Amino acid sequence: MITIHFIEPGGRSTPVKSKVGKSLMEAAVAAGIDGIAADCGGLLTCATCHVHVLEPFCSDPATLPPPDGEELGMLAFTASPRLANSRLSCQITLTPDLDGLRVELPATQY
Ligand code: FES
Repeated sequence: MITIHFIEPGGRSTPVKSKVGKSLMEAAVAAGIDGIAADCGGLLTCATCHVHVLEPFCSDPATLPPPDGEELGMLAFTASPRLANSRLSCQITLTPDLDGLRVELPATQY
């Protein structure tokens, strides 16, 4: 199990424990994190699982591989502005190296 921290726009942080191998989106949905809608269930067609990955994870490609072309294409459709550290959480597979990952939830997913 690893721990991920979901940070609401107001700054409140919710720690969530999840198994390695699940997606970040699946961990959020299982924990009832409000800020992740994930309408398509991880099929990469909705962009409602948008998160902002915080340091050091967003700048360490050895720990968190960068988005592929399909994810980059879908990131054009996020409701909240896309930032340099924007990711779609359904495309992030949890690994032991991501223990302690911190992600901010955008103001809206719609
Ligand atoms: Fe729909 Fe991630 S859950 S794109």
